[in-house]
Amino acid sequence: MHASSRSAIAIEGLHKKYRTNHALRGVELEVRTGEVMGLLGPNGAGKTTLVKILTTLLRPDHGHAYVNGWNVSAEPEKVRATIGMAGQYSTVDGLLTGFENLYLLAKLRGVGRRTARRVADDLLSRFRLTDVAGRPVGAYSGGMRRRLDLAAALVGSPPLVVLDEPTTGLDPESRLDTWEAVSELAAAGTTILLTTQYLEEADRLADRITVIDRGRVVAEGTSDSLKSAAGNRLVVCVAQEHQLDAAARAVARATGATPTVDRRARRVEAPAADGRAALARALAALENENDADAEDVEDVEVLEIGLIRCTLDDVFLGLTGHARHSDHAGHAGHAGHAGHGHRHTDREATP
Ligand SMILES: Nc1ncnc2c1ncn2[C@@H]1O[C@H](COP(=O)(O)OP(=O)(O)OP(=O)(O)O)[C@@H](O)[C@H]1O
Ligand SMILES: [Mg+2]
Repeated sequence: MHASSRSAIAIEGLHKKYRTNHALRGVELEVRTGEVMGLLGPNGAGKTTLVKILTTLLRPDHGHAYVNGWNVSAEPEKVRATIGMAGQYSTVDGLLTGFENLYLLAKLRGVGRRTARRVADDLLSRFRLTDVAGRPVGAYSGGMRRRLDLAAALVGSPPLVVLDEPTTGLDPESRLDTWEAVSELAAAGTTILLTTQYLEEADRLADRITVIDRGRVVAEGTSDSLKSAAGNRLVVCVAQEHQLDAAARAVARATGATPTVDRRARRVEAPAADGRAALARALAALENENDADAEDVEDVEVLEIGLIRCTLDDVFLGLTGHARHSDHAGHAGHAGHAGHGHRHTDREATP
Protein backbone atom coordinates (compact mmCIF):
# COMPACT_ATOMS: atom_id res chain seq x y z
CA MET A 1 0.00 0.00 0.00
CA HIS A 2 1.08 3.53 -0.74
CA ALA A 3 0.83 6.65 1.38
CA SER A 4 -1.78 8.05 -0.99
CA SER A 5 -4.07 5.10 -0.35
CA ARG A 6 -6.88 7.46 0.59
CA SER A 7 -7.00 8.58 -3.01
CA ALA A 8 -8.87 6.35 -5.43
CA ILE A 9 -6.28 7.24 -8.06
CA ALA A 10 -2.86 8.79 -7.56
CA ILE A 11 -0.63 9.36 -10.56
CA GLU A 12 2.89 10.76 -10.39
CA GLY A 13 5.10 11.69 -13.32
CA LEU A 14 3.58 9.18 -15.68
CA HIS A 15 5.24 8.71 -19.07
CA LYS A 16 4.28 6.44 -21.93
CA LYS A 17 5.81 6.20 -25.38
CA TYR A 18 4.58 4.20 -28.33
CA ARG A 19 7.86 3.81 -30.21
CA THR A 20 8.67 7.46 -30.98
CA ASN A 21 5.23 8.80 -30.10
CA HIS A 22 5.37 10.30 -26.62
CA ALA A 23 1.71 9.85 -25.63
CA LEU A 24 2.02 10.74 -21.91
CA ARG A 25 4.61 13.30 -20.84
CA GLY A 26 4.63 13.42 -17.07
CA VAL A 27 1.00 13.25 -16.04
CA GLU A 28 0.10 14.09 -12.44
CA LEU A 29 -3.42 13.36 -11.28
CA GLU A 30 -5.28 12.66 -8.09
CA VAL A 31 -8.83 11.39 -7.88
CA ARG A 32 -10.30 11.42 -4.40
CA THR A 33 -12.45 8.61 -3.15
CA GLY A 34 -16.10 9.24 -3.96
CA GLU A 35 -15.64 11.96 -6.55
CA VAL A 36 -16.42 12.07 -10.25
CA MET A 37 -13.37 13.20 -12.17
CA GLY A 38 -13.87 14.28 -15.76
CA LEU A 39 -10.83 13.78 -17.97
CA LEU A 40 -11.26 16.14 -20.87
CA GLY A 41 -9.04 16.33 -23.91
CA PRO A 42 -9.04 16.46 -27.70
CA ASN A 43 -8.31 13.50 -29.99
CA GLY A 44 -4.91 12.03 -29.30
CA ALA A 45 -4.49 13.85 -25.97
CA GLY A 46 -3.66 10.60 -24.18
CA LYS A 47 -6.96 9.84 -22.43
CA THR A 48 -7.23 6.22 -23.52
CA THR A 49 -3.55 5.62 -22.86
CA LEU A 50 -4.01 6.86 -19.31
CA VAL A 51 -7.14 4.77 -18.84
CA LYS A 52 -5.35 1.67 -20.13
CA ILE A 53 -2.49 2.16 -17.69
CA LEU A 54 -4.91 2.61 -14.79
CA THR A 55 -6.79 -0.53 -15.73
CA THR A 56 -3.51 -2.49 -16.12
CA LEU A 57 -3.95 -3.09 -19.85
CA LEU A 58 -0.77 -1.13 -20.56
CA ARG A 59 2.43 -0.61 -18.55
CA PRO A 60 3.85 2.88 -17.99
CA ASP A 61 7.47 3.62 -18.99
CA HIS A 62 8.18 5.93 -16.03
CA GLY A 63 6.29 7.22 -13.05
CA HIS A 64 3.78 5.64 -10.74
CA ALA A 65 0.08 5.03 -10.76
CA TYR A 66 -1.86 3.83 -7.73
CA VAL A 67 -5.44 2.65 -7.87
CA ASN A 68 -7.23 2.22 -4.55
CA GLY A 69 -3.76 2.23 -3.02
CA TRP A 70 -2.34 -0.52 -5.23
CA ASN A 71 0.50 0.05 -7.63
CA VAL A 72 -0.72 -0.76 -11.15
CA SER A 73 2.67 -2.15 -12.20
CA ALA A 74 3.44 -4.18 -9.08
CA GLU A 75 -0.02 -5.42 -8.10
CA PRO A 76 -2.15 -5.49 -11.23
CA GLU A 77 -4.46 -8.26 -10.02
CA LYS A 78 -5.33 -6.26 -6.87
CA VAL A 79 -6.10 -3.27 -9.08
CA ARG A 80 -8.29 -5.32 -11.39
CA ALA A 81 -10.30 -6.67 -8.47
CA THR A 82 -11.35 -3.18 -7.35
CA ILE A 83 -12.07 -1.55 -10.67
CA GLY A 84 -14.84 -1.62 -13.26
CA MET A 85 -14.06 -0.45 -16.76
CA ALA A 86 -15.89 0.40 -19.96
CA GLY A 87 -13.43 1.01 -22.78
CA GLN A 88 -13.73 3.39 -25.68
CA TYR A 89 -14.23 0.39 -27.93
CA SER A 90 -16.63 -2.33 -26.97
CA THR A 91 -15.16 -5.26 -25.10
CA VAL A 92 -18.27 -7.40 -24.69
CA ASP A 93 -18.36 -10.66 -26.65
CA GLY A 94 -20.46 -10.36 -29.82
CA LEU A 95 -21.23 -14.05 -30.00
CA LEU A 96 -22.73 -14.21 -26.53
CA THR A 97 -26.07 -12.69 -25.59
CA GLY A 98 -26.32 -9.60 -23.42
CA PHE A 99 -27.41 -11.75 -20.51
CA GLU A 100 -24.56 -14.23 -20.98
CA ASN A 101 -21.95 -11.47 -21.08
CA LEU A 102 -23.06 -10.01 -17.76
CA TYR A 103 -23.70 -13.40 -16.17
CA LEU A 104 -20.20 -14.65 -17.02
CA LEU A 105 -18.60 -11.44 -15.76
CA ALA A 106 -20.47 -11.81 -12.48
CA LYS A 107 -19.30 -15.45 -12.21
CA LEU A 108 -15.73 -14.25 -12.85
CA ARG A 109 -16.14 -11.91 -9.90
CA GLY A 110 -16.68 -15.04 -7.85
CA VAL A 111 -20.41 -15.03 -7.09
CA GLY A 112 -22.76 -18.04 -7.27
CA ARG A 113 -25.08 -18.82 -10.16
CA ARG A 114 -28.22 -17.41 -8.60
CA THR A 115 -26.55 -14.13 -7.63
CA ALA A 116 -24.92 -13.88 -11.05
CA ARG A 117 -28.32 -14.26 -12.69
CA ARG A 118 -29.83 -11.57 -10.48
CA VAL A 119 -26.91 -9.17 -11.11
CA ALA A 120 -27.26 -9.68 -14.88
CA ASP A 121 -31.04 -9.23 -14.85
CA ASP A 122 -30.86 -6.10 -12.69
CA LEU A 123 -28.26 -4.45 -14.91
CA LEU A 124 -30.11 -5.39 -18.10
CA SER A 125 -33.26 -3.79 -16.79
CA ARG A 126 -31.42 -0.70 -15.54
CA PHE A 127 -30.01 -0.09 -19.02
CA ARG A 128 -33.25 -0.90 -20.86
CA LEU A 129 -31.80 -4.07 -22.38
CA THR A 130 -34.25 -6.64 -20.97
CA ASP A 131 -36.02 -6.99 -24.32
CA VAL A 132 -32.81 -7.89 -26.13
CA ALA A 133 -31.19 -9.82 -23.28
CA GLY A 134 -31.42 -13.13 -25.17
CA ARG A 135 -30.01 -11.80 -28.44
CA PRO A 136 -26.37 -12.15 -29.46
CA VAL A 137 -24.59 -8.84 -28.86
CA GLY A 138 -23.33 -8.89 -32.45
CA ALA A 139 -26.89 -8.01 -33.48
CA TYR A 140 -27.17 -5.04 -31.07
CA SER A 141 -27.28 -1.46 -32.26
CA GLY A 142 -24.31 0.74 -31.36
CA GLY A 143 -26.28 2.38 -28.56
CA MET A 144 -27.36 -0.94 -27.05
CA ARG A 145 -23.77 -2.11 -27.14
CA ARG A 146 -22.52 1.00 -25.34
CA ARG A 147 -25.18 0.50 -22.69
CA LEU A 148 -24.14 -3.12 -22.24
CA ASP A 149 -20.50 -2.00 -21.94
CA LEU A 150 -21.49 0.33 -19.16
CA ALA A 151 -23.52 -2.39 -17.46
CA ALA A 152 -20.50 -4.70 -17.70
CA ALA A 153 -18.36 -2.11 -15.90
CA LEU A 154 -20.77 -2.17 -12.96
CA VAL A 155 -20.80 -5.93 -12.40
CA GLY A 156 -19.60 -6.63 -8.88
CA SER A 157 -20.23 -3.02 -7.76
CA PRO A 158 -16.55 -1.99 -7.87
CA PRO A 159 -15.64 1.05 -5.76
CA LEU A 160 -13.94 2.68 -8.76
CA VAL A 161 -15.38 2.79 -12.26
CA VAL A 162 -13.40 4.01 -15.24
CA LEU A 163 -15.39 5.01 -18.31
CA ASP A 164 -13.65 5.94 -21.55
CA GLU A 165 -15.97 8.15 -23.61
CA PRO A 166 -19.10 6.38 -22.39
CA THR A 167 -21.54 8.41 -24.47
CA THR A 168 -19.69 8.89 -27.75
CA GLY A 169 -21.99 7.79 -30.53
CA LEU A 170 -25.07 7.47 -28.35
CA ASP A 171 -28.48 8.89 -29.25
CA PRO A 172 -29.80 11.59 -26.88
CA GLU A 173 -32.00 9.19 -24.94
CA SER A 174 -29.20 6.71 -24.34
CA ARG A 175 -26.91 9.56 -23.37
CA LEU A 176 -29.41 10.67 -20.74
CA ASP A 177 -29.65 7.07 -19.46
CA THR A 178 -25.89 6.97 -19.14
CA TRP A 179 -25.78 10.30 -17.34
CA GLU A 180 -28.44 9.10 -14.97
CA ALA A 181 -26.55 5.87 -14.30
CA VAL A 182 -23.34 7.80 -13.62
CA SER A 183 -25.17 10.21 -11.28
CA GLU A 184 -26.76 7.31 -9.40
CA LEU A 185 -23.42 5.56 -9.04
CA ALA A 186 -21.79 8.75 -7.81
CA ALA A 187 -24.60 9.34 -5.33
CA ALA A 188 -24.05 5.82 -4.02
CA GLY A 189 -20.41 6.68 -3.32
CA THR A 190 -18.67 5.10 -6.31
CA THR A 191 -15.57 6.91 -7.52
CA ILE A 192 -15.72 7.59 -11.23
CA LEU A 193 -13.11 8.59 -13.75
CA LEU A 194 -14.80 9.55 -16.96
CA THR A 195 -13.12 10.63 -20.16
CA THR A 196 -15.11 12.71 -22.57
CA GLN A 197 -14.90 15.14 -25.43
CA TYR A 198 -18.30 16.57 -24.51
CA LEU A 199 -17.90 19.63 -22.39
CA GLU A 200 -21.53 19.57 -21.37
CA GLU A 201 -21.02 16.06 -20.05
CA ALA A 202 -18.02 17.04 -17.95
CA ASP A 203 -19.81 20.19 -16.77
CA ARG A 204 -22.83 18.19 -15.73
CA LEU A 205 -21.34 15.07 -14.19
CA ALA A 206 -17.88 15.86 -12.91
CA ASP A 207 -17.03 17.22 -9.47
CA ARG A 208 -13.65 18.16 -10.87
CA ILE A 209 -12.24 18.33 -14.37
CA THR A 210 -8.73 17.63 -15.57
CA VAL A 211 -7.89 18.88 -19.04
CA ILE A 212 -5.14 17.04 -20.86
CA ASP A 213 -3.54 17.91 -24.15
CA ARG A 214 -0.61 16.29 -25.93
CA GLY A 215 0.15 14.03 -22.99
CA ARG A 216 0.18 16.73 -20.32
CA VAL A 217 -2.28 18.05 -17.76
CA VAL A 218 -2.98 21.64 -18.80
CA ALA A 219 -5.64 22.53 -16.23
CA GLU A 220 -7.43 21.08 -13.27
CA GLY A 221 -10.31 22.30 -11.13
CA THR A 222 -14.05 22.47 -10.76
CA SER A 223 -16.01 23.54 -13.78
CA ASP A 224 -16.69 26.82 -11.98
CA SER A 225 -13.07 27.53 -11.14
CA LEU A 226 -11.94 26.74 -14.68
CA LYS A 227 -14.53 29.13 -16.10
CA SER A 228 -13.59 31.87 -13.65
CA ALA A 229 -9.89 31.45 -14.34
CA ALA A 230 -10.58 31.85 -18.06
CA GLY A 231 -12.04 35.32 -17.42
CA ASN A 232 -14.84 37.21 -19.09
CA ARG A 233 -15.91 37.94 -22.61
CA LEU A 234 -17.15 41.27 -23.85
CA VAL A 235 -20.23 41.09 -26.05
CA VAL A 236 -21.82 43.80 -28.17
CA CYS A 237 -24.97 43.35 -30.25
CA VAL A 238 -25.88 46.05 -32.75
CA ALA A 239 -29.12 46.88 -34.54
CA GLN A 240 -27.86 46.82 -38.14
CA GLU A 241 -25.42 44.59 -39.92
CA HIS A 242 -23.49 47.50 -41.43
CA GLN A 243 -22.71 48.71 -37.91
CA LEU A 244 -20.74 45.55 -37.16
CA ASP A 245 -17.42 46.83 -38.44
CA ALA A 246 -17.52 49.88 -36.21
CA ALA A 247 -18.57 47.73 -33.26
CA ALA A 248 -15.74 45.27 -33.96
CA ARG A 249 -13.24 48.15 -34.03
CA ALA A 250 -14.51 49.38 -30.68
CA VAL A 251 -14.36 45.92 -29.12
CA ALA A 252 -10.87 45.34 -30.50
CA ARG A 253 -9.70 48.63 -29.05
CA ALA A 254 -11.30 47.91 -25.68
CA THR A 255 -9.97 44.37 -25.28
CA GLY A 256 -6.81 44.28 -27.34
CA ALA A 257 -8.08 41.02 -28.80
CA THR A 258 -9.35 40.06 -32.24
CA PRO A 259 -13.14 39.92 -31.94
CA THR A 260 -15.35 37.15 -33.26
CA VAL A 261 -18.10 38.55 -35.46
CA ASP A 262 -21.41 36.74 -35.80
CA ARG A 263 -23.07 38.50 -38.72
CA ARG A 264 -26.41 36.81 -38.48
CA ALA A 265 -26.77 37.60 -34.76
CA ARG A 266 -25.15 41.02 -35.36
CA ARG A 267 -22.92 40.24 -32.45
CA VAL A 268 -19.29 40.99 -31.71
CA GLU A 269 -17.43 39.20 -28.97
CA ALA A 270 -13.89 39.06 -27.58
CA PRO A 271 -12.09 37.86 -24.46
CA ALA A 272 -11.83 40.66 -21.90
CA ALA A 273 -9.17 39.89 -19.35
CA ASP A 274 -9.88 42.93 -17.16
CA GLY A 275 -13.68 42.66 -17.30
CA ARG A 276 -15.35 45.86 -16.16
CA ALA A 277 -12.51 48.12 -17.24
CA ALA A 278 -12.80 46.65 -20.75
CA LEU A 279 -16.53 47.26 -20.68
CA ALA A 280 -15.98 50.92 -19.77
CA ARG A 281 -13.41 51.25 -22.57
CA ALA A 282 -15.84 49.65 -25.02
CA LEU A 283 -18.55 52.17 -24.17
CA ALA A 284 -16.08 55.00 -24.66
CA ALA A 285 -14.81 53.50 -27.91
CA LEU A 286 -18.35 53.19 -29.24
CA GLU A 287 -19.00 56.85 -28.39
CA ASN A 288 -15.83 57.67 -30.25
CA GLU A 289 -16.96 55.74 -33.32
CA ASN A 290 -20.18 57.71 -33.31
CA ASP A 291 -18.44 61.05 -32.85
CA ALA A 292 -15.97 60.27 -35.60
CA ASP A 293 -18.65 59.46 -38.13
CA ALA A 294 -19.65 62.04 -40.68
CA GLU A 295 -22.93 63.84 -40.08
CA ASP A 296 -24.83 61.78 -42.64
CA VAL A 297 -23.67 58.39 -41.27
CA GLU A 298 -25.98 57.01 -38.62
CA ASP A 299 -24.67 56.05 -35.19
CA VAL A 300 -23.90 52.52 -34.07
CA GLU A 301 -27.04 51.45 -32.27
CA VAL A 302 -26.07 49.15 -29.43
CA LEU A 303 -28.87 46.75 -28.50
CA GLU A 304 -26.89 44.84 -25.93
CA ILE A 305 -23.51 45.27 -24.33
CA GLY A 306 -22.06 43.38 -21.45
CA LEU A 307 -19.68 40.89 -19.91
CA ILE A 308 -20.42 37.20 -19.99
CA ARG A 309 -18.62 34.37 -18.30
CA CYS A 310 -16.53 31.97 -20.33
CA THR A 311 -18.20 28.68 -21.10
CA LEU A 312 -16.33 25.44 -20.70
CA ASP A 313 -16.03 25.49 -24.49
CA ASP A 314 -14.07 28.75 -24.28
CA VAL A 315 -11.88 27.28 -21.54
CA PHE A 316 -11.15 24.18 -23.56
CA LEU A 317 -10.39 26.12 -26.69
CA GLY A 318 -8.17 28.56 -24.83
CA LEU A 319 -6.20 25.72 -23.23
CA THR A 320 -5.81 23.35 -26.12
CA GLY A 321 -5.87 25.82 -28.99
CA HIS A 322 -8.24 23.66 -30.95
CA ALA A 323 -11.93 23.02 -31.02
CA ARG A 324 -13.30 19.60 -30.25
CA HIS A 325 -13.49 17.12 -33.09
CA SER A 326 -17.25 17.48 -33.21
CA ASP A 327 -16.90 21.15 -34.16
CA HIS A 328 -16.40 22.17 -37.75
CA ALA A 329 -12.98 21.10 -38.92
CA GLY A 330 -12.27 24.56 -40.29
CA HIS A 331 -12.23 26.06 -36.81
CA ALA A 332 -9.36 23.96 -35.55
CA GLY A 333 -6.10 25.63 -34.72
CA HIS A 334 -7.13 29.29 -34.62
CA ALA A 335 -7.57 29.92 -30.94
CA GLY A 336 -8.29 33.63 -31.28
CA HIS A 337 -10.80 33.34 -34.08
CA ALA A 338 -12.33 29.92 -33.86
CA GLY A 339 -15.98 29.37 -33.09
CA HIS A 340 -16.61 29.14 -29.40
CA GLY A 341 -18.93 26.21 -29.06
CA HIS A 342 -22.32 26.09 -30.61
CA ARG A 343 -23.22 29.73 -30.24
CA HIS A 344 -21.46 30.69 -33.43
CA THR A 345 -22.48 28.03 -35.86
CA ASP A 346 -24.21 30.65 -37.99
CA ARG A 347 -21.22 32.92 -37.88
CA GLU A 348 -20.50 34.57 -41.20
CA ALA A 349 -23.48 32.87 -42.73
CA THR A 350 -24.29 35.96 -44.78
CA PRO A 351 -21.70 38.19 -46.41
N1 LIG B 1 -1.16 1.45 -30.00
C1 LIG B 1 -0.62 2.61 -30.35
N2 LIG B 1 0.50 2.67 -31.10
C2 LIG B 1 1.06 3.85 -31.46
N3 LIG B 1 0.58 5.05 -31.10
C3 LIG B 1 -0.53 5.07 -30.34
C4 LIG B 1 -1.20 3.85 -29.94
N4 LIG B 1 -2.28 4.18 -29.19
C5 LIG B 1 -2.30 5.52 -29.14
N5 LIG B 1 -1.27 6.07 -29.82
C6 LIG B 1 -0.94 7.50 -29.96
O1 LIG B 1 -0.80 8.04 -28.65
C7 LIG B 1 -1.40 9.33 -28.56
C8 LIG B 1 -2.49 9.30 -27.50
O2 LIG B 1 -3.54 8.46 -27.94
P1 LIG B 1 -4.81 8.12 -27.06
O3 LIG B 1 -5.58 7.06 -27.75
O4 LIG B 1 -4.39 7.87 -25.66
O5 LIG B 1 -5.61 9.51 -27.12
P2 LIG B 1 -7.12 9.85 -26.71
O6 LIG B 1 -7.04 11.08 -25.88
O7 LIG B 1 -7.78 8.66 -26.13
O8 LIG B 1 -7.78 10.22 -28.11
P3 LIG B 1 -9.30 9.97 -28.63
O9 LIG B 1 -10.10 11.12 -28.12
O10 LIG B 1 -9.16 10.04 -30.11
O11 LIG B 1 -9.77 8.65 -28.14
C9 LIG B 1 -1.90 9.64 -29.96
O12 LIG B 1 -0.92 10.39 -30.61
C10 LIG B 1 -2.06 8.28 -30.60
O13 LIG B 1 -1.89 8.39 -31.99
MG1 LIG C 1 -9.43 7.57 -26.57
